[in-house]
Amino acid sequence: MHIDEIDTPAVLIDMDRVEANLARAQAYADANGLPLRPHVKTHKLPEMALKQVALGAVGITCQKLGEAEAMADGGLTDIFLPYNILGAAKLDRLAALNDRVTLAVTADSAETVAGYAARFGKDAPLKVLVECDTGAGRCGVQTAGQAVALARQIAAAPGLIFGGLMTYPPKGGVARADAWLKEAKTALEAAGLPPETISSGGTPDLMKAAEGSVTTEYRPGTYIYSDRMQVALGHGTLDDCALTVKATVVSRPTGDRAVLDTGSKALAADPAPAPMRGHGHIVEYPDAIVQALSEEHAVVDLSACDARPRVGETVRVIPNHACVVTNLHDRVYLIRGDQVEREARITSRGKLQ
Ligand SMILES: Cc1ncc(COP(=O)(O)O)c(C=O)c1O
Repeated sequence: MHIDEIDTPAVLIDMDRVEANLARAQAYADANGLPLRPHVKTHKLPEMALKQVALGAVGITCQKLGEAEAMADGGLTDIFLPYNILGAAKLDRLAALNDRVTLAVTADSAETVAGYAARFGKDAPLKVLVECDTGAGRCGVQTAGQAVALARQIAAAPGLIFGGLMTYPPKGGVARADAWLKEAKTALEAAGLPPETISSGGTPDLMKAAEGSVTTEYRPGTYIYSDRMQVALGHGTLDDCALTVKATVVSRPTGDRAVLDTGSKALAADPAPAPMRGHGHIVEYPDAIVQALSEEHAVVDLSACDARPRVGETVRVIPNHACVVTNLHDRVYLIRGDQVEREARITSRGKLQ
């Protein structure tokens, strides 16, 4: 099938670009002896995850339990879930998943560890890493001392195994994260609890990830598709972006305005990464600005464009944030050039619990 036959709005994945993006990252990881554990939140497709593992990834990372269950159903066998899992319902599901795959989770509080410790026993122990806030300002213990205290609590629980340290580093913050983790590693070694794994990750720093001297695993996610945000942060160019949203021009109310059938429910409403403008990059009209989104409409400012689209024309839009787009659609079209190889159902889409 030709891509012209795909109805809109629809997500197209350029497989040549996917393969180039994966190969580039894996070559860097191999050259620097840094195992990759890709985050699947970008594609949410077991077949892409299997491709990443076949290329050399040591396993995968999932953000949500439901996402991890769908990946296990899809044949993935080694899963890191860097999240505080809380509450009886989720802990039961976590135990069931732990019986099916090689699994590790994180904790950044005594309460989370206590929940794991109460649910897991010696017969099927759970591996737990301590999440560290190395500057990103999200989850994570705040000091090396707190990391040691939590590691001790984990190691003392019969049904838990202390697995090491995990961080989601500040963007552009390899050195800062590394200094933090090095101090925590030294403190843990002094406490008799050397961390087996030190997991860091993020696409913006992927191609300098090996500068993190204590990192033992790296978790890039968006690198597989890339998007405008990653390009703005310095990772590759728009020509590396594999995910586009195909859209139809449904209206041309004025000479300077076009309206596409991709609103926030198809393109996602993440703001433009500076210095870029607008809610996406229209490949065929690079000077156009997607200036506003409502749920099912994208309003495009054409005032800077020489050529302008007509009603009924289709275009392809590189979104600001590919991962959120993936979560909005039931399926993607895997393409090569202008041919559709096939459709793939996004099995982890919407698995928010
Ligand atoms: C815990 C964790 N690890 C890894 C990643 C991957 O980051 P990126 O999409 O920048 O590659 C994310 C992204 O949100 C994350 O939250």
